[in-house]
Amino acid sequence: MNTSTTTSGLVIAIDGPAASGKSSTARAVAGRLGYRHLDSGSFYRALTLAALQRGIPVDRWPLLTHEELDSLHVDAVPADGSFLVRVDGQDVSEAIRGADVNAHVSLMAAVPAVRGWLLEILRETGRNGGLVADGRDIGTVVFPDADLKIFLISDPEVRARRRLLQQGAHPDGETLRQETERLAARDHLDQTRSIAPLVPAADAITLDTSDLSFEEQVSAVVELSRVREP
Ligand code: CDP
Repeated sequence: MNTSTTTSGLVIAIDGPAASGKSSTARAVAGRLGYRHLDSGSFYRALTLAALQRGIPVDRWPLLTHEELDSLHVDAVPADGSFLVRVDGQDVSEAIRGADVNAHVSLMAAVPAVRGWLLEILRETGRNGGLVADGRDIGTVVFPDADLKIFLISDPEVRARRRLLQQGAHPDGETLRQETERLAARDHLDQTRSIAPLVPAADAITLDTSDLSFEEQVSAVVELSRVREP
């Protein structure tokens, strides 16, 4: 992957549970600092979409080999301060946010061969610095030497409400309850898997965004990054 447009700067890791605002925060922080944004979850989502489209039964996913993962034709190209994740060369940015992918992505992400297959691809994006990467294991596994590690948390209902609003849905009582349950189920899978579970890195700074506006949470991370700059 060609990452040559970015040649210096920090590597910032932002991890946290589902819908904690990692991606939107990471994108905005990258924009402010002139860095590139890496949404690592989009790779797991694209692999999930490709496997579903190819009709590979979910119970076969733990057996996927590197060759089979190669044949899913998932890749990413630098674009617009970020990376555009593709399947068969097609932009899948919208398709990977669908309910079917949401429901299955944590199963794909728990497969050790999948994580092994992706690791070098993800690491390559930060080779020259100037990267804000978000996910579940960025500060613990992908970039254990990141210059700044943030662990974003917020109240489950706040997260569910934000996710529904983001999807254009109306967060009424029952819808909110169901979305909170779906997020909790995904968090549980991500936290309890044996490989690269969702946990804060020992040197991560935890930021609770329940009572912060988006602007406040972005500014908080930008301020912390200024302190780490050489
Ligand atoms: O945006 P949201 O929090 O809903 O999820 P995401 O960041 O797009 O990640 C989707 C799923 O991919 C997560 O639920 C994890 O199962 C997995 N993932 C992971 O295992 N490791 C990462 N570094 C990023 C995502």
